[in-house]
Amino acid sequence: IGQVAVEIKYQLKSLSQRRSEPFTPEDNIGFGRIRTDHMFLMDYDNGQWLNPRIIPYGPLPISPGAMALHYGQAIFEGAKAFLHSDEEIYTFRLDKNTERLNESAKIMCMPEVPKEMQMQAIEALIDVERLWFPRQTGACLYIRPFLFATEDNISVRSSQNYTFCVMLSPSGAYYPEGNNNAISLLISKTYHRAVSGGTGSAKAAGNYAASLRAGIAAKEKGAAQVLYLDSTNQRIEEAGAMNHFHVLKDGSIIIPEFTDTILKSITSQSVLALGELLGCNIRQETVYLDKFIADIESGDIVEAGGFGTAAVVSAVGHYIFEDGTKLKVGNGEVGPTTHKLYALYSAIQTGQHPDELAWLKQV
Ligand code: PLP
Ligand code: COI
Repeated sequence: IGQVAVEIKYQLKSLSQRRSEPFTPEDNIGFGRIRTDHMFLMDYDNGQWLNPRIIPYGPLPISPGAMALHYGQAIFEGAKAFLHSDEEIYTFRLDKNTERLNESAKIMCMPEVPKEMQMQAIEALIDVERLWFPRQTGACLYIRPFLFATEDNISVRSSQNYTFCVMLSPSGAYYPEGNNNAISLLISKTYHRAVSGGTGSAKAAGNYAASLRAGIAAKEKGAAQVLYLDSTNQRIEEAGAMNHFHVLKDGSIIIPEFTDTILKSITSQSVLALGELLGCNIRQETVYLDKFIADIESGDIVEAGGFGTAAVVSAVGHYIFEDGTKLKVGNGEVGPTTHKLYALYSAIQTGQHPDELAWLKQV
């Protein structure tokens, strides 16, 4: 690991140029669209991580027989860094993302990338790209580490070679609606994201490829994403890019319990920890679809939404069924509990609220 740090520093010295003021605060940067100038790369061969480097962002040479392209051995993470009023950049719970990348790696039979190496790689890259930090209101530097199989072999087995890459994207809100407007979710009984014993709890590329058909169905019905059920269509699992939550009349917040078909959202885990800190009742339960619908209709459930790094805390105003009928939650807009949670979470991330749980790390 020490060697990696030394090599990263060496690479930093040899970087050709740094860009200044790449865009103005008025630009609409969207989510995940913009890249910065550089990326981090490191290769895995013979049981070792080799050649850590930061180089200009650009196409990667990859063999057509690379196993990631055929059998989908590819995983990724999503984290964020924020610019605070002291003009310093802070990563948010990056250690949790590095741990989860390794959990995904285990599930997908890939080598782990030591946590310290991941941290050093990401921090070094952010350091190089400081001037890319977007100054738009609510914007961040989205961090996308990913790991994929590069061995040129078409046997179905795990690859012996891999590349670990990190790229950065100056980003705003994930949904075009922004976080001050509610989205709709399609409740799908046709499409499923994951089955027990499968790879649903890994942040594996294939899970997202498998969700595209359902995503198109959602768009056709006017929904932003799909709310997935378990394969028996009884329990609520999660949405395409966020965990799910709902708020009861008494203010309790319920998140479906983590199973091997749900990605263990770092945002959900953070909200649960905040609940403990603030003495709020935020808990995980098995959520049955029939009861969920009945409780919305009776007014026992007053708000609902999703948690995720990209989505932050997003309100769900309507559920849409496959026959096109709609179910409104509360008044169909962002409710007070969801709004309060979003405001608190964002305030911690951006340094406007004390970081009592030490989630931020200065780069
Ligand atoms: N569920 C899925 C399927 C996701 O892609 C994401 C996004 O990362 C989440 C949940 C939310 O997880 P996190 O809060 O760790 O970003
Ligand atoms: C994230 O929230 O970081 C994600 O990875 C979701 C997504 C954009 C797929």
